Amino acid sequence: MKKIYLLVVAMFAMFSCSGEPDPVSIIPQPHIVIEGKGSYQLPNNPVIAVSSDELIPAGELLALKIGGEVIKSTEGDVVITINQNPAKKGAYLLDIDDNGVAIVVSNYQGAATAVASVMQLLPVEPTNRALPFVSIEDEPRFDYRGLMLDVSRHFYSVEEVKKMLDYLHMYKLNKFHWHITDDQGWRIEIKKYPLLTEKGAWRKLNGHDRECAKRAELENNPDYAIDPNKMRINGTDTLYGGFYTQEDVKEIVAYATQRGIDVMPEIDMPGHFLAAVTNYPFVACEGSVGWGEMFSSPVCAGSDQAIEFCKDVYAEIFELFPYEYVHLGADEVEKTNWKQCKDCAKRMRDNRLKTPESLQAWFVKDMEKFFNANGRKLVGWDEILEGGLSETATIMWWRSWAKDAVHVATAQGNEAIMTPNFVCYFDYMQDVNSLKNLYNYDPTGNDFTPEQQKLIQGVQGNVWCEYIPSFDRLEYMTMPRILALAEVGWSALDSKSWTDFLERVPAQLGRLDKMSVNYRVPDLMGFYKSNVFIDTAVIDVKSVAKGTRIHYTTDGVVPTINSPRYTKPITVTETTEFQFATFRPDGTRSDVSTTVYTKQTPIASVKPDGALKNGLKAMWYNYRGGKCSEITGAKLFGEYTVSAVAIPEKVSGNIGLDITGYINVPADGIYTFSLLSDDGSQLYVSGAEVVNNDGPHAPREVIGQVALAKGLHPLRVLYFDHNGGQLQLQLVEKDGTYISIPENWYKH
Ligand code: ACM
Ligand code: ZN
Repeated sequence: MKKIYLLVVAMFAMFSCSGEPDPVSIIPQPHIVIEGKGSYQLPNNPVIAVSSDELIPAGELLALKIGGEVIKSTEGDVVITINQNPAKKGAYLLDIDDNGVAIVVSNYQGAATAVASVMQLLPVEPTNRALPFVSIEDEPRFDYRGLMLDVSRHFYSVEEVKKMLDYLHMYKLNKFHWHITDDQGWRIEIKKYPLLTEKGAWRKLNGHDRECAKRAELENNPDYAIDPNKMRINGTDTLYGGFYTQEDVKEIVAYATQRGIDVMPEIDMPGHFLAAVTNYPFVACEGSVGWGEMFSSPVCAGSDQAIEFCKDVYAEIFELFPYEYVHLGADEVEKTNWKQCKDCAKRMRDNRLKTPESLQAWFVKDMEKFFNANGRKLVGWDEILEGGLSETATIMWWRSWAKDAVHVATAQGNEAIMTPNFVCYFDYMQDVNSLKNLYNYDPTGNDFTPEQQKLIQGVQGNVWCEYIPSFDRLEYMTMPRILALAEVGWSALDSKSWTDFLERVPAQLGRLDKMSVNYRVPDLMGFYKSNVFIDTAVIDVKSVAKGTRIHYTTDGVVPTINSPRYTKPITVTETTEFQFATFRPDGTRSDVSTTVYTKQTPIASVKPDGALKNGLKAMWYNYRGGKCSEITGAKLFGEYTVSAVAIPEKVSGNIGLDITGYINVPADGIYTFSLLSDDGSQLYVSGAEVVNNDGPHAPREVIGQVALAKGLHPLRVLYFDHNGGQLQLQLVEKDGTYISIPENWYKH
């Protein structure tokens, strides 16, 4: 009996230790990967040897995943050695062969990133400990690869923040930008000013909270619910919030440091500072605490006492955060109070400042001197350019409409970090293009000189959390975007490929499934939002996520796990609206895709009277709003002939365009139009709306189809934007390739 028992145990042990390795599939894609033949069976209690004391935390980090003990030695199952090569911060060499795992780094960050690679080389199945033979030489493209988390709009616990840091580490993001205070909540204990957290960390439920609660109900989505554990009763009030003690902060910084992550705090000022000015009113201009036209009352830049307050706060921040770079914020400052305040007026007179923008620049520069005196470098949102940028501050570019910001800053020799809202704002809803657009974003790819490129430190995703009240929702908004961001920041341009990335995503989703991460299943492919067919169509749905199931409905009802399961292409013979939903292996639903297949006979062409000229007619209206249908109600500014659907050269500022004419299509058939715009646009062909890309938004492409008979069809594009903008109309071929519309197709 005993013998059999031992045999079973031995077999189980063998089974649990040995297995085939998973194919090498790492995100972000390493610099050089040479795969070998065979695998190394990691023992159950491996000896993790490190060559110096400073590497012990990295060894322990690996031990958290693979077990075993960490010793200072040059011999072990895993050996991490520090020497001069490779020199780049975060770079590492990793070799796995019969002898085990050998890692060589030149700094701690390299050890932390190498550990992340080993974790991704372990099979997804936790009982399988086969590591593939491989030789990796890896280094990051950018020094700065960050994620910003806003903990003001909703509070996340220490454990939740740590979980997020685990994800950053897993994907080699090495900067955690902690947006730790804002109008809606002050989240860090400041010993000199206790009211900041005693009162400023708690609020009555606000409009965002009510909207979240509404979505939780309407969308039947508990991830939007306000967490009752983050409420407390205070007299007759129920307050919502929370904060980190200074001990919590130290714990989080230590946790990040072990994972090779620098924590950059941001105490946003002089605006977004309501939690401070309401609890210490001397910080604001006299008699003006609350909301202005656009944003909240800022710090009184004329008051020495207010500025002292700001410096006192940062003095405590410097004690808690060792990272050299510290973020002052300085975005979105309401300047109406400054225009009315006598102290601000005096400050402006004394310093010969002509505009409120230059007063803001004065404030930022004064704070920067304080930062520098404390051995810190100042980072600010790109508004710190307005009114004059110092020679040393780093700008964080977010306003995609402030197109020149990075050019101006880097031409002056300042460093820049790229977080343009159109790809890097992870609070924006994900759609079919968001992952791909982010993946293809090149932080240095915008006519920068080589000198300017060197000043671009890297890239960051920003998660603003107004509508992210839970950690589950946070995971949903950030995953898998973090994977694409990681590759933008880490992988060399020539080793980046969207199609190859898509091949590597499923293995990661498998890992995230095992970790119970509430990631958003990438969009289904194989159809447009609106499709047209003449006789029949075949809908062939493709999914990146192999482990997920697709269910669908055709009756307008949101699919459940009990709805018909999609297993093979469907032939469509009548106009049908489909809703497809993906379900993760644990049965939870991800987003729903709606697609309409419309049966259409080709629209007859027209024969306009009189001779036609080449090109289209573009009318420019002085429109500053958010709706295509309103454009032609504004004052007419000018009239142009254009050879393509585009913004005419001379048109800028308040743009409302009404572009009209004809499109001359060469044959009967279904035409697929892609309309890309920033902000809104609409396309009509023969009076029918083909693309609706209306509303204020960052660059966004919407595709639509229409069946057309050979010949001329009336065409109309409406478009609006304020400040810059983008407009492009293209054709999409059956195989998905984009082609420009030939100029000679356009007439008017
Ligand atoms: C920002 O999004 N206000 C930096
Ligand atoms: Zn003032």
